[in-house]
Amino acid sequence: MAEHVKVLLTEEEVDRRIQEIGNQISKDYEGKQVHLVCVLKGGSFFMCELAKRITVPVSLDFMSVSSYGSDTKSSGVVKIVKDLDESIKDKDVIVVEDIVDSGRTLSYLLEMLRDRGPRSLSLCTLLDKPERRVIDVKVDYTGFEIPDEFVVGYGLDYDQRYRNLPYIGIVEFD
Ligand code: IMP
Ligand code: MG
Repeated sequence: MAEHVKVLLTEEEVDRRIQEIGNQISKDYEGKQVHLVCVLKGGSFFMCELAKRITVPVSLDFMSVSSYGSDTKSSGVVKIVKDLDESIKDKDVIVVEDIVDSGRTLSYLLEMLRDRGPRSLSLCTLLDKPERRVIDVKVDYTGFEIPDEFVVGYGLDYDQRYRNLPYIGIVEFD
């Protein structure tokens, strides 16, 4: 099936919002070190941009969980594909995600990370689709709340493509 991408949030809008979140995190974590946990692959573009705008000391780690296949619906099955390299015990952890949709992936992930004894654990997501929530997840930092549309860009993919778009777009099928 052919598809095209319609701009939802421009590069300028996204960059401006990431700067605001960076400022907020820098203020909230004054005097501390933040440990950013990026959920691959979608969260990677956002995490890099965000990390550059945080002024307190930052360390980074990555993990990968499976949620979506080449489909546009959540399977509800969450599997750790790549675990963190370092312990998060006693660290001030911020999980950085591309999008919270049903909340299934995040609720599972946050519960698992909480069991590892971080000093604090927050969630920062670039996008949120509140209408789609099936499991309640507390989001501490949100870039944008968006309507229930399938979006790509800034790390988000459709069948592994479009992650490199510097803006957020809606996939429309022709
Ligand atoms: P959840 O478990 O339903 O909240 O799904 C979260 C994951 O599904 C995200 O981290 C994305 O990888 C993927 N996802 C959800 N909505 C979209 C979308 O609109 N475009 C691309 N990926 C999405
Ligand atoms: Mg993701």
